Amino acid sequence: MPFKYVDKLLHCDGVNLADIAEQYGTPAYIYSERSLRRNVEVLKEIFIDRGFKVSYAMKANSNPTILKLFRSYGLGVDIVSAGELQMAKHCGFDGAEINFAGVGKTIEELDLALALEIDHFNVESRFELELLEARAKIAGKKAGVLLRLNPDIDPQTHPHISTGLKQNKFGMSPENVRYFLTEAKSYPHIQFDGIHCHIGSQILQPQPFFDLIEYLEQFTDSLKAGGVDITHIDLGGGFGVNYEDPFEDILETTPFLESIAQRAMEKLGKYQLHIQPGRVLVANAGVLLAQVLGNKENGGHHFVIIDAATTELIRPALYDAYHAIFSHREGRPLRMGDVVGPVCESSDALAKHRDMPEFEKDDLMIIGSAGAYASSMGSTYNLRPLSPEIVVNVGGETQLTRKRQSFDEMISLYS
Ligand code: LLP
Repeated sequence: MPFKYVDKLLHCDGVNLADIAEQYGTPAYIYSERSLRRNVEVLKEIFIDRGFKVSYAMKANSNPTILKLFRSYGLGVDIVSAGELQMAKHCGFDGAEINFAGVGKTIEELDLALALEIDHFNVESRFELELLEARAKIAGKKAGVLLRLNPDIDPQTHPHISTGLKQNKFGMSPENVRYFLTEAKSYPHIQFDGIHCHIGSQILQPQPFFDLIEYLEQFTDSLKAGGVDITHIDLGGGFGVNYEDPFEDILETTPFLESIAQRAMEKLGKYQLHIQPGRVLVANAGVLLAQVLGNKENGGHHFVIIDAATTELIRPALYDAYHAIFSHREGRPLRMGDVVGPVCESSDALAKHRDMPEFEKDDLMIIGSAGAYASSMGSTYNLRPLSPEIVVNVGGETQLTRKRQSFDEMISLYS
């Protein structure tokens, strides 16, 4: 276990978190290289070694040290913006290792990706297909495309992160996907490789994936019967993690990964299969380290006020998400309360009505599962600088992989 108590103080791979706080200040994100490697090794064994292409959905965490580590295991990268494209390029990903997803892409983004000759675009609507055809023609290129199909499958997760229901903004209806594949000749600068689906995020049951695989088997059979052949199927990401016990091993949380890989090979093995996981690779490899500014009672409520806020971790406010709270000191008595930050919003809370360790002023608090959708969703609201990211490497050394934003850097953006 990378994060554990040693002599009653929480450590990350042998490093006392108090030493990290002293060296780099708080709030700070701490990532365990050992845990990142464990996660990627598990996915490699289950998926890559079976012939799947695995593209890391870098929106979960776009730290370049993490991106380069994943690339060294043979992962590609799933991007959704020009910024992510530039970061992927900066980290050494070739065009052939990049796919571009997302519900809306600008001309500038399409042109950049065409110039880099990325592997494929995941296209979600007619207007996008037409724009891509026009831009590819101008660039004198043929763009690889997977059409994103909306299969109307309930992923049984939070409504804000459910994407594969027909009322969601994502994907195209099966009728439209069939239509464009049949009309492929009308798009001479597009190479239609196949179909992409992503039904949602933080999915903890195998059934929605089994449903998706079965759906795609039937759909591709019916395409074939209509004379349309495809070569690639991308099942998206969405594998969940254990937020209650963030230090649990990936295979305890998601024992079903193996069964999904097996089922997909069995039913769709004649296609080149892809997946695009984000969260499962990074969420529980990271924590957010904060310092307690003080305790306060208001209207019968107990509040622990810390120096981190929704600017560092917006998930509890946005999705009512649960993130485990730890004290740096083991064995503290429990006390019910809310953990809140200094940001001027009532919704600025990281935990509510929680039985958690008792904290005193200046104590360190550790917030679990902060490796995914934490820093990458960070903001500078209230002109709070972006927080640093520290990787604890397997040798037990700390590496500052993103420095804390300075006030000068923030101010210099304005003229
Ligand atoms: N592929 C596509 C097309 C996606 O839209 C996403 C996530 C992924 C892959 C990766 O999904 P994952 O394996 O990470 O579940 N901010 C939210 C999650 C939003 C996910 C958006 N799309 C959260 O903090 O829960």
